[in-house]
Amino acid sequence: MTDISTKDKALPKHVAIIMDGNGRWAKNKGKIRTFGHKAGVESVRSAVQFAATKGIHALTLFAFSSENWNRPKDEVSVLLELFNFVLNNEVKKLHKNNIKLKVVGDISRFDDKLKAKIARAEKLTENNDALVLNIAANYGGRWDITHAAKLMAQKAMSGELDIENVGEKEFDEFTAFAGLPELDLLIRTGGDSRVSNFMLWQCAYAELYFTDTLWPDFDSTEFDKALDDFASRQRRFGLTGEQVDVA
Ligand code: IPE
Ligand code: IPE
Ligand code: MG
Repeated sequence: MTDISTKDKALPKHVAIIMDGNGRWAKNKGKIRTFGHKAGVESVRSAVQFAATKGIHALTLFAFSSENWNRPKDEVSVLLELFNFVLNNEVKKLHKNNIKLKVVGDISRFDDKLKAKIARAEKLTENNDALVLNIAANYGGRWDITHAAKLMAQKAMSGELDIENVGEKEFDEFTAFAGLPELDLLIRTGGDSRVSNFMLWQCAYAELYFTDTLWPDFDSTEFDKALDDFASRQRRFGLTGEQVDVA
């Protein structure tokens, strides 16, 4: 049972969403898959606005995985065009709403124009603090861990870092989500119960929420349901339920 007070207390600081189901949503309507990706942009707008209104600190959206390059060329092109479109048309609004935008992932694979656009958007919004919006693009959880290990090894080799002093907290500083609150809630739309190489390191103690709702149908009511579900859970972090109740 959750009342308003416990719900407020249990508001997740960091929510991530695997936005899945665009293709099936389009197919159900007799349309081509990319129609679903275009419709999904509206759900992105709504999720961002909802998270900001709720007072969530960080929202991370999985937009394009390192594995998604293997899709048909045309579909990959449309997804990249949509990413460009969003950067061209939504950044001003994000800035106006005091939202800080970050693109997380291996952006080295993007062309120079897109890279410059990302850098401009991040620079413009860097001091905003209403919500941190991370767009995961060409992101993979294994990439994140490997990349962090490489950065760390480089620092160790140059003598700037004593490897003896590296614990989990220090390692975290090298990952794509350094400095952000721990991931509290991971939502996946589209009916599959897997993490598909998303935020593997950060998932350690996240609450997982799977819904059959396809991403273009995921609106603020659906988001609120996920938050209610989160608020109803007892997070034990290895303790007993009794220990948590006392605390
Ligand atoms: C998620 O929807 C969007 C991306 C992966 C970019 P899908 O395109 O995976 O949709 P389904 O899972 O095929 O329905
Ligand atoms: C995960 O969805 C990636 C994104 C939502 C961007 P996929 O549709 O690529 O995942 P799988 O292939 O079903 O595991
Ligand atoms: Mg999918």
